[in-house]
Amino acid sequence: MFQKVHKYLASYVPERTSVLREMEQYAAENSFPIVGPLVGRFLYQMTLMIKARRILELGSGFGYSAFWFSLAAGAKGHIVMTDRDKRNKSRAFDYFKRAGLQSQFLFKVGDAVSLARRLDGPFDIILNDIDKESYVKTLDLAAARLRRGGLFITDNIIWSGRVLEKKQDKTTRAIVNFTEDLYRDSRFFTTIMPIRDGLAISVRL
Ligand SMILES: C[S@@+](CC[C@H](N)C(=O)[O-])C[C@H]1O[C@@H](n2cnc3c(N)ncnc32)[C@H](O)[C@@H]1O
Repeated sequence: MFQKVHKYLASYVPERTSVLREMEQYAAENSFPIVGPLVGRFLYQMTLMIKARRILELGSGFGYSAFWFSLAAGAKGHIVMTDRDKRNKSRAFDYFKRAGLQSQFLFKVGDAVSLARRLDGPFDIILNDIDKESYVKTLDLAAARLRRGGLFITDNIIWSGRVLEKKQDKTTRAIVNFTEDLYRDSRFFTTIMPIRDGLAISVRL
């Protein structure tokens, strides 16, 4: 059922520009996990809704999600990207340049949590898409660096349905624990959007 709903929703997503399609193709051919067009559009929409300009990504990969943020934020956008693999940085900038994106990008290579702890903020949006065992470390850092009304967006919160299983591995358990913490945290108001692999949308109160 979940797959069918996803397919149905995906059928409404219009064609993307050639560079975005190229990025999607690269991800598919290299089994590189990206948020994909359904979530990409949603990030775009969230950016428009709260007029986000300052965006921080924890786990940027080769820039697919940042690309969607930039499309919405335009020339006024400041996007801080983080990833521990430096090869993703040059790949991302190559796509951004070819697409003529107008935002300012800063790509920091290293552990996203350590890098983010050295940033002051405030940010309008923080996207959380790093290794799932590290999710637990992102809650305080996001709360301290988001403006009120800003969004903390966490990907893979449904983890292909594994969060529903009784017997859970370490990674799944980390996601479930994080989700429980997120809903209990009085600094945020959270709802899970069950699109693609599940996104937690948390408004900073
Ligand atoms: C799911 S991909 C990110 C995809 C990207 N948000 C997108 O949709 O285009 C996760 C990325 O985070 C990086 N990563 C995972 N854990 C990390 C960590 N603790 N610190 C920095 N980068 C990390 C990986 O190298 C990978 O490129």
